[in-house]
Amino acid sequence: MKLFVSTLMTLVFTFGFAQENKDKDNLMPLPSSIEYHKGYFVVDKNFSVRIEGYKSNRLFKYADKVLRRISNESGIFVDQKILTTSSNPQTSSVVIDVERGGKFDVEEDESYELLISKEGIIIKSVTDLGAMHGLETVYQLLEVNNGKYVFPLVSIKDSPRFVWRGLMIDVARHFIPVDDIKRNLELMSSVKMNVFHWHLSDDQGFRVQIDSHPELYKKGSDGNYYTKTQIKDIVAYASDLGIRVIPEIDVPGHATAILTAMPQLASKDTTYTLERNAGIFSPVLDPTNPETYKVLGDVIGEMSELFPDKYFHIGGDENEGKNWESNPDIVAFMKKNDLKHPHDLQAYFNSKLYKILASNGKEIMGWEEIQNEAIPKGALIQSWRGVNEGEEVGASLSKAVKNGYNAILSNGFYIDLMLPASSYYSTEFVPNTIELSKEEEARILGGEATMWSELITPLTLDSRIWPRTAAIAEKYWSPKSKTKDVDNMYSRLDLVSKKLERIGSQHIKNKDVIIRNISNYNQPEVVKVLVDVCEPMKVYSRNPNGTMYNTFSPYTKFADACIVDAIGAREFGNLVNDFIKDDSSENRLKLVEVFRLWKTNHSNFLEVVATSPMLEEVALKSKYLNELGVLGLKSLELNNISPLELKSALKNIDEISADEGGRTELAITNSMKLFLKSLDHK
Ligand code: ACM
Repeated sequence: MKLFVSTLMTLVFTFGFAQENKDKDNLMPLPSSIEYHKGYFVVDKNFSVRIEGYKSNRLFKYADKVLRRISNESGIFVDQKILTTSSNPQTSSVVIDVERGGKFDVEEDESYELLISKEGIIIKSVTDLGAMHGLETVYQLLEVNNGKYVFPLVSIKDSPRFVWRGLMIDVARHFIPVDDIKRNLELMSSVKMNVFHWHLSDDQGFRVQIDSHPELYKKGSDGNYYTKTQIKDIVAYASDLGIRVIPEIDVPGHATAILTAMPQLASKDTTYTLERNAGIFSPVLDPTNPETYKVLGDVIGEMSELFPDKYFHIGGDENEGKNWESNPDIVAFMKKNDLKHPHDLQAYFNSKLYKILASNGKEIMGWEEIQNEAIPKGALIQSWRGVNEGEEVGASLSKAVKNGYNAILSNGFYIDLMLPASSYYSTEFVPNTIELSKEEEARILGGEATMWSELITPLTLDSRIWPRTAAIAEKYWSPKSKTKDVDNMYSRLDLVSKKLERIGSQHIKNKDVIIRNISNYNQPEVVKVLVDVCEPMKVYSRNPNGTMYNTFSPYTKFADACIVDAIGAREFGNLVNDFIKDDSSENRLKLVEVFRLWKTNHSNFLEVVATSPMLEEVALKSKYLNELGVLGLKSLELNNISPLELKSALKNIDEISADEGGRTELAITNSMKLFLKSLDHK
């Protein structure tokens, strides 16, 4: 059989078969190379899969899961025994041919080749990790054609651009239960992401069961922490999905929760309670106290048994050292040890931690501030403040790789900034202004999207991660040349968003749950009209000074229903673009319909507000939408607008844009301006 698979693949990739263009790929991330051929492979109830060569438990599970998804999506009652052991190649729809099991290593081979012909589907890979990626590609290719569920005929060769394709989830600011983590791990693997960075401690919580110092999780977590059994379960679950798990205990700053439990480790003698707000706080561990290292040694020791990965993340970010400089004993220690600046003291602290990690068989990983001569080159640096910042703000991605470290990029991938997918998609790992040698560039291992959780709960977790992170996943996986076309990315993102929902994501349905809540179950469809053109305020401006919201605020409000890349706003933007290109009666009519909806929605909205006081905060926004609808109708019906009217309308739109009702912004104002300005030239 092996010979059969290889020969067939070689024949196809060498000579090809009749090729055709497809209008639209369904895939995200895009593969390195894809050729479509004429025709389809049709799914029927005999759909089956067989694994050749190396048999790995996780590959069986994975194949089973993906084939269940195909059955669920198509409604075809596929025979229960989809995983066959038959040795006849003709009797299996999918044949997977794998050489060996994959390891979680930055050198690992994750490539695969996929051939879909009329006769069947063949996935060939060196490791089971590659085959799992191939299975995801197969699933994304499933479509309906001519009344049948089919796979287009393709030959694909694929391998990742970067080995580190991560998502960080902060479970300290808001605790995220096990099932929500697991669901997101599965969503990650569906877009070929392979690193889960688990931010387990911060000022607002310490979330790991530690038996040698139980006060850490008992006093540091409000009762919301992961037991060791749960952690092992998640790590095993992730491993089955081809995802490595990197734990983070953030020290020496971001340590309020640790100090709430163990104030004896603090640099300042005061009372500590769990932080409830967002921001950068001064509580910091005392690096001159031997007990600090004893406790961290115990914590790292226990956690090293739970987390098999070679990297352990020690945080290291945003320590301003205020409580060090105000403590005479610490100042004296610095003097005695010739440590001139708090940075030097932090380097001293990090080098102690490095030794503790090494004695537990771990390599150190940390935010870019850990970069210092004291840290050996085996460290992995996570750049978050900039691609090429100045010395005073510390290390950067390029600086790290020039200094000989492996590094990953998170700057530009902060999804909690609530920027559109296009923004993250435009992030470059190496901007044109920076020159790196081949060796230096090879030290960039990849990137991580960061889901900081000050303003999210399990209810909104998925809509804050997905689908935008699928576009980021493409940035990490696909060749650079294939991640430049933003419109094309958006056209596929809409498809991927639906696939994500089909496999469990709650990003669409929870939005409706929140809308029903805020409408008090009265005409939710009316509220949805406004939600669909609004977005949460961006770049942390939703939560001024980090104090408007705290841990226990409701995250069930209008802003929480709103998503980035608001659907109605994007549709309106597309209609305006079409109209600017061609003001045909058809394109006009489409705009007129939207303007009518905006105009008429408001009176219904006020009815809903009367029964749901929670919506009062956006009643004015609904009125603005009404005004824009009226303006749009007037412009199109009169077919001209005087320069004076235009000027006043644009000014009015600027005021509308500045409205912060419900901590959201109306996301149609820029398109509305483009529309109005285009009337000048019509
Ligand atoms: C960070 O955002 N403080 C790493």
